[in-house]
This record gives sequence, C-alpha cells and structure tokens, in this order.
Amino acid sequence: MRLTGTGHASMRIDTGAGSILCDPWVNPAYFASWFPFPDNSQLDWETLGDVDYLYVSHLHRDHFDAAHLKRFISKKATVLLPEYPTSELEDELRDLGFTSFLRTKSEEVVELDGGLKVMIQALTSPTDGPIGDSSLWVEYDGVRLLNQNDARPTDLGVFAELGHVHAHLLQFSGAIWYPMVYELPSAAKTAFGKQKRDRQMDRTIRYIDDLKASWVFPIAGPPCFLDDELWQFNDIHGDEGNIFPDQQVFLDHYNGLGYDNGVILLPGSVSEIGTESVHTTHPVPDVREFFDRKEEHLRAYQERARPVIEAAKASWRHPEIDVLAGMKRRIEPLLDESIYLAKGVGGPVRFDLVGYDGESVESILVDFPGKEVRPYADEKVRYRFRTERALVEHLLHIEEVDWVNSLFLSCRFSAARIGQYNEFVYAFFKCLSEERLQYAEGWYDEHERSTDAEDITIGDWVVQRRCPHLKADLTRFGIVEDNQLTCQLHGWRFDLASGRCLTSVGHSIRAHRADEAPATVPVEAEAEPAG
Ligand code: FES
Repeated sequence: MRLTGTGHASMRIDTGAGSILCDPWVNPAYFASWFPFPDNSQLDWETLGDVDYLYVSHLHRDHFDAAHLKRFISKKATVLLPEYPTSELEDELRDLGFTSFLRTKSEEVVELDGGLKVMIQALTSPTDGPIGDSSLWVEYDGVRLLNQNDARPTDLGVFAELGHVHAHLLQFSGAIWYPMVYELPSAAKTAFGKQKRDRQMDRTIRYIDDLKASWVFPIAGPPCFLDDELWQFNDIHGDEGNIFPDQQVFLDHYNGLGYDNGVILLPGSVSEIGTESVHTTHPVPDVREFFDRKEEHLRAYQERARPVIEAAKASWRHPEIDVLAGMKRRIEPLLDESIYLAKGVGGPVRFDLVGYDGESVESILVDFPGKEVRPYADEKVRYRFRTERALVEHLLHIEEVDWVNSLFLSCRFSAARIGQYNEFVYAFFKCLSEERLQYAEGWYDEHERSTDAEDITIGDWVVQRRCPHLKADLTRFGIVEDNQLTCQLHGWRFDLASGRCLTSVGHSIRAHRADEAPATVPVEAEAEPAG
C-alpha cells in the first residue's frame, strides 16, 4: 500500500485494486484565515486527482474544498460516503459534478472490486464536526490503515477488531478558536492554551496506545494563518499556550515518551507500507531542517497568498444588507422551534458588529429565552461576540447555515462569556437550517431520555460508565484525581461529590464513594444560572 501525503488531513492511498483520495484541501478556508501548511498548491493535482475513489470525511472547509474538488478531482471517482443523518455532503458533491456514490453503513466493512476493503465509521452528534465527522479504515493485501483524521471516536475497538492496523493517521494539533479569541488577560490565555495543548497531545497518545498500530502518522493540522491580522496564531513565537504545534513538535514529544514509530508526511512524501516495514521518502532533504526554517517558509507563503487574501476580503462587504433584519429572518423561526438548544443556551447572546470604518458598532441580541432577535438594550448577556459587520453581511448574503464552519473557525472575532463554556451556543449557530436544527433537537431529545445504568469503579469512586458529554467509556478515558474526574476524550471535568460538570452547563455525572451507598435520589442537573 502506498500513501502519498497531500497536505493537512489529505492523502492519496494507492493499492493494487484502486486508489482513494482523502480530504483534498488547498484553497484557504474560513474567511481566508486557514491555509494548509506546508503549502501543497504546487503538487501535481491533475495526476493526484485522477483516482478511483474519493473520500471526504466531513464538511469542514479544511476537508471539503469545493473549488479544488470541482477543478481537479476526476468526476469518474466513486465517492465513499459516510452514513450521515443529513444528505448535505452528498448534495454538495453532486453539485460539483460527482455522480457515483457508495453509501456506506457506519462500521460495516465493504469489499470493493479487486479485494480492496473499506469501512467508514460515522460520528453524528451535533458536536461532531458540522453534524458529522468520520474515519476511514482500509485493507488491501493484508495491510491495514486507519485514517482517523480529526474524528474523535469514543474508542477504536471497532477498528482493532478487524485485525492489527499498520498505519494510523490522526490529528494531534488544535483546530479551534479557544482560547485565543477570548478577551482574557494574556497570562490566563497562555495558561488555558497550555492546558489545551497538553490535553491534545495526551488524547492523541491515548488513541495511539489504544490502537497500537505499527506506524503513526500525525496529520490533520495545524493550519497556518497568513493574514497579518492572524499571524500571531502561528506557533513560531515560542508561546507555550499556542494550540497549533506542528508535526515535528509532536514527533519530538512522542519520541520523548519513548515511542519510535512516528512518521511525518509532508505534501509530496511517499510511504510504502507493508505488514513488516515502512519506507518513506520526502520532497525535502531533511524534514527537521524544513521545520527549523518554518518562519521563513511561512513568510514566503504569506507573500504568495497576499493577493488571494486581499481578493477574498474585497468580496465580503454587502452594504445593501440590513443585518438586523437578516438575522431576524434567519434566526427567529429557528428559535421558535428550538427546545433543547435554546434551553441549553439559557440566556441572551450579543453580537457587536464593527462597521467598515473600524469604529462604529451595531449591537444585536439573540435572545434565546425570549425567542427573538433585536437591538441590544443594555441587558446582561451570557456570551458576547465582537466581529466585523462585513463578515455577518457575507454570511447572510450566502445564506450560510453553519456559522461555526465559517465565522467561528475563522478566528476573526473576539469573545467574552459569563460562566462556563456552553456547547449549545455553538451547536445552535451550526444549525441555522431547518434540517440541521431538527436533527440536533432530536438528538438531544433522545439523549436526555436515554438511561445509562452501568457503573464502574475508578479509585475510590463508583461512577457511571459513560461520560455525560458524548458517552466516552470512562474505563478508558476517565481519570480521578482529588475527587474530580477528567474524561480525557475532550477534557471535561466533573466534581464527584456533587456530580456537577465543571466544564459545561448541565451534564451532571452519577457518582458515589465506593465505600458508601449510592444516593437514592439521582443527582439533578445544575440549574441554569441567570443570564
Ligand atoms: S466524551 Fe467528551 S469529555 Fe467525555
């Protein structure tokens, strides 16, 4: 099996029974904020795109690059489609000209022509990607590969059961706006960033330990930021709180823990993978030296990208749009329908929109309890976002249904909040369509009602086996220290004496001391604090 690195989470897999191109991404994503690093635009995409199968793991724009798919990827390719609750991914690919689809069933192996086997695991909670993220398992001639990309399965058992995996490709770097955009003192931001950076690395190691593949390929990040306004997010400033460490940084950390099976794939690197060996060639003489000169590469890349960024910025302004009326029209009908998400947000969310002059500000309130969008009138809010009015004009102009997969991932905003992180705020703003909202509401409804009776013992505590967040198995992911449980899948923490979730609103955990009887009354979810 031959694996060609094509940048970020993208790769081409060649076997004797056909080739699969995964997640090709070249054009900048999220309001021209994210670029793939290293630059992969000079690869021979005509040849790379001439494939038998295409796999797009999910609709995040650093995995789904519509312009690139349209121009370079053979429309004769059969799309290996994850089993998602909505048809958005298929619809978007059809719009680009793809006509052949293999609709897989989650976690079911499919044998393709020539003995090539694939299996796709689809994750479908409202917090997985843009309502959906997935991993691809491939087997040919006894060699097995798992492209986990940035998916977060609760465990990898379903892949391990299919036999020893030889190549495990997974994310190790950050891919979010937290904590950089928060209006916090810089020391706090650094501390939160460091915590997050450590947690990302720990989670990656945990997945690696779970699967025990022969070789590990750190992929799916980090992006780089070439706009001057975002340059500080690149991990070149010696900031221990930066959440975007690169592959070489991860590999050094990994090797420091005693592992020696990590392989870096640059765009253009080729790994020949057998059951007993891996042989990798790179497009540069020395990979470490390449990363040592990262800032120099980024500066040159920035010069090449400047016209692209300028052209993108020029396209965002739509002064004819009445933003308040547009947000009202788009959001109010959804607020009306929303039960779980609106209740979960629990308070008003304020958008401060900075005008073209960089000074004037229009404040708009999305009032979740009151179910309306109106001008801000000095009330206390749960969350406040500050961004350019032009960005919201553009979102309304293109009728964007997912403001996470556009505005929030762009990092072109700042935020302040009272209280804990609230997943429902972001879940709502990624569901600005009837179809998505209904799905998310249904998902929460089902999960609110489901019972989860199994308990396990960790240290001195008996706790429910499944994490109240997204059901991770706490026998694998749970760690108890100082009477607090941390679930290492996403790092959520719980106070075991009270059952309270310390990371997000709601989500209480059932727990009692091993030497005491369980409480007869189940722990109540924490009441929503006033907004
Ligand atoms: S499943 Fe997300 S923190 Fe446990």
